[in-house]
Amino acid sequence: MQILRIPTQPIPGQKPGTSGLRKKTRVFMQPLYLENFVQSIWNGIGGVAGKVLVVGGDGRFYNEHAVQVILRMAAASGAARVIVGQGGLLSTPAASHLIRKRGADGGVVLSASHNPGGADEDFGIKYNTNNGGPAPEGVTQKIFEASTVLDHLLTLDTSDLPLDQPGTHRLGDMVVEVVDPVADYADLMETLFDFNAIRDYLEAGFTLRFDAMHAVTGPYAVEILERRLGARPGSVRNAVPLPDFGGGHPDPNPVWAKPLVDAMFAPDAPDFAAASDGDGDRNMVLGRGVYVTPSDSLAVLAANAHLAPGYRGGLKGVARSMPTSRAVDRVAEAKGFAAFATPTGWKFFGTLLDAGMATLCGEESAGTGSDHVREKDGLWAVLMWLNILAIRRMPVAAVMADHWAQFGRNYYSRHDYEGIDSAAAEALMTDLRNALPTLAKREAGALTVRAAQDFAYTDPVDGSRTTGQGIEIEFEGGARGVLRLSGTGTEGATLRIYLERFEASDLTQDPQEALAPVITAIEALAGIRARTGRNAPDVIT
Ligand code: G1P
Ligand code: ZN
Repeated sequence: MQILRIPTQPIPGQKPGTSGLRKKTRVFMQPLYLENFVQSIWNGIGGVAGKVLVVGGDGRFYNEHAVQVILRMAAASGAARVIVGQGGLLSTPAASHLIRKRGADGGVVLSASHNPGGADEDFGIKYNTNNGGPAPEGVTQKIFEASTVLDHLLTLDTSDLPLDQPGTHRLGDMVVEVVDPVADYADLMETLFDFNAIRDYLEAGFTLRFDAMHAVTGPYAVEILERRLGARPGSVRNAVPLPDFGGGHPDPNPVWAKPLVDAMFAPDAPDFAAASDGDGDRNMVLGRGVYVTPSDSLAVLAANAHLAPGYRGGLKGVARSMPTSRAVDRVAEAKGFAAFATPTGWKFFGTLLDAGMATLCGEESAGTGSDHVREKDGLWAVLMWLNILAIRRMPVAAVMADHWAQFGRNYYSRHDYEGIDSAAAEALMTDLRNALPTLAKREAGALTVRAAQDFAYTDPVDGSRTTGQGIEIEFEGGARGVLRLSGTGTEGATLRIYLERFEASDLTQDPQEALAPVITAIEALAGIRARTGRNAPDVIT
């Protein structure tokens, strides 16, 4: 088979965002769009000659085609071996694990995460480095720069490989190894958690439901929850990955996983429920009659991690993204381990995890994980919860009440304004940024601003500096609001408003009511309604 040298030219806008390059699928379907970006990855990382790569994705529309393109292009550029999940599938955490376990040089993951899939929906591609984590800014910048000077790409004139069975193929001089996407990951989970305790608890009548949302975690959850742990068959719902995720958003939140939330508030609810997103790195956790916010979940996991065998020795530290609630900081303070606040995006946790400074990490956007891989991990969080419940033998609601009684409660919510005019969104942020020096002491509704900053971060490990990561406004009395623009959207702009207020003793309020003064204060300072033309957020989580 012949190597084809195809002339091309730079395609504008191939700049990776919070999590890789994410665009409408039809953008990726334009001639050479995907190929240009893949070649830019190769060029940006200094070539793939002689390298070992892991490739897989969440199974959305265009996944299989993209895998075939990547295989041909890797072979044409001299890669030694590509390890690919059967059917082109790999969850993001499983890909991270495979890169680490096999000592690969890196990996390419195809996903637009929790965004919908299909020809008219979203597609994405991200590069992970040899620690198994998302490429840091320095690397994504090089990839972007490579995309701006690209003049040719290399591929092979060969047909698609069969990927539906495990086995080994050759593509030119390159070995393609098709592997079971689930087995290694499931084995890793068995080393971290007390499967015997969970199995016993299930045998004793504890019931659970897991909604895979027609996305990649279906096969993982069936293997781990039903086959290895003995949950009743059918406990995993929507378990077969579909190219369009059944027409919904594979986004595990109370909006997109409403049927699951409704089921948990019904009289015949199971004891525990969870859902994961398109590529399996996010999670939502529910108990009977209770939704656990991701920020609280991180705090509970940090407070109870020692109950799981993989974390018995205690935690080295915890890290959260800056907009994530400070609930976990209280646990860290009480237990005496370090707490870090990083910019949004899992890639900022990588150095802390590699350096052994943090064991658990989490984001308010339903991402939790640990140093077992270098991505957030939906099923890992579910198993950690199950391990904790199996040892403590308490309902989820009681675990939460107990946690708040011990540490106090950080009421928390995120309000999203989606698909708003980009110019209006930018202007809102710029004006607020310009007003920062004048905000201190300003009254806003019933609150008074204590301090305000445009969040910047210096990585304590490698010293790299990241600026402009969101405007954080703190009020007298400890409440806080954060405003930032999404870096993963594919249409217009999404404005995210993060709201938080600590209460030491009044622990059972409705979060939106508890946060009402903060909501009013942020509106007074930023003028969101007037500037976006919206009366209310599109999504409240
Ligand atoms: C969103 C989340 C962020 C997460 C990212 C990738 O990014 O807010 O926490 O790391 O998706 O899953 P955003 O759209 O806010 O830039
Ligand atoms: Zn995801």
